[in-house]
Amino acid sequence: MHTDRSPDVLIVGGGIIGLVTAWRSAQRGLRTIVVDPEPGGGAAQVAAGMLAAVTELHYGEQMLLGLNLESARRYPAFAAELTEASGQELGYRTCGTLAVALDADDRAHLRELHALQQRSGLESEWLTGRECRRLEPMLAPGVRGGLRVEGDHQVDPRRLAKALVTACERAGVGFRRSRVERLRVSDDRATGAELEDGAVLGAGQVVVAAGSLSGRLAGVPGDVLPPVRPVKGQVLRLTVPGAYAPFLSRTVRAVVRGSDVYLVPRENGELVIGATSEELGWDTTVTAGGVYQLLRDAHELVPGITELPLTETRAGLRPASPDNAPLLGPTALPGLHLATGHHRNGVLLTPVTGDVMAELLATGDLPAEARPFSPLRFSPLRQEQPV
Ligand code: GLY
Repeated sequence: MHTDRSPDVLIVGGGIIGLVTAWRSAQRGLRTIVVDPEPGGGAAQVAAGMLAAVTELHYGEQMLLGLNLESARRYPAFAAELTEASGQELGYRTCGTLAVALDADDRAHLRELHALQQRSGLESEWLTGRECRRLEPMLAPGVRGGLRVEGDHQVDPRRLAKALVTACERAGVGFRRSRVERLRVSDDRATGAELEDGAVLGAGQVVVAAGSLSGRLAGVPGDVLPPVRPVKGQVLRLTVPGAYAPFLSRTVRAVVRGSDVYLVPRENGELVIGATSEELGWDTTVTAGGVYQLLRDAHELVPGITELPLTETRAGLRPASPDNAPLLGPTALPGLHLATGHHRNGVLLTPVTGDVMAELLATGDLPAEARPFSPLRFSPLRQEQPV
């Protein structure tokens, strides 16, 4: 039983996934509260913001591709609506991406990716090294070829997070700047949370959107918590002084000696270089080795980066699931839903996540596009539909 002051929806985690769920839920008339010590923080403060459904295609991720493409399709309208609702620019750039190869191995890898893209019906164009350099004159002379993907864009995740906080506030979302100590369950139903500051919040429905921390919440049976783990990514930020502009006109990326490296140029002169991918648990140390690897690989692609000021080094944690796809929807515990496990695609999947979670919270139905990503796929013994 809820008091009049209990929210309809309590969201654990105020990163971009929790925020977009809150914003969309409030728009549907649900009284919504977000619990987070620092709303708008989390992995979005580190992420580069590539919307790379096509260039980050991987074997075995065809189902995820469908969701990624659907979210990319929604991005223009989502960005326009959020800009209007918040009064803030998001740094959304429809600039495209160029994936290049530096040696014969890289080129073979890129040819495989091109073939997979073509089999998947995606648009990408093979370019010679000379054609790549014509598009991006700062590229190294040794570039052997590349893929031009006009549909893979970018957004600034920090601006996205800030705009979502404002849009939530304007839509009436409440914020509790605290941590969830434990979730509350009564009569086999999630009913709210106890906070670190001692408060107890009741709610009609609870959404766990706590990124890589989502699997660590106390108070509920372990088998309803998501099997997410942290995957560390180190990221650098450089600044392109006005005299060098335009340095790069689109995202440039490559696989160098088996590791991904990408350079994401923003309109404000920021150049983001990412990212390592490290299975090191909860470690967020920026290491000399990580910075060295990124600078070495980025320098091979674009030698001129060594002239630029290095303004920031950060490490963040991607919330990864066993199949690299998100967990969206109800758990086996009635009243408890998940929106987590977005791994490399959190920024890209923000629009579609907000839409499907709000539809679920408002109507009880998970839209068809999200059903393959039900958390129940990891709970084979508990696949009965919750009430
Ligand atoms: N999607 C880019 C990354 O996870 O590094």
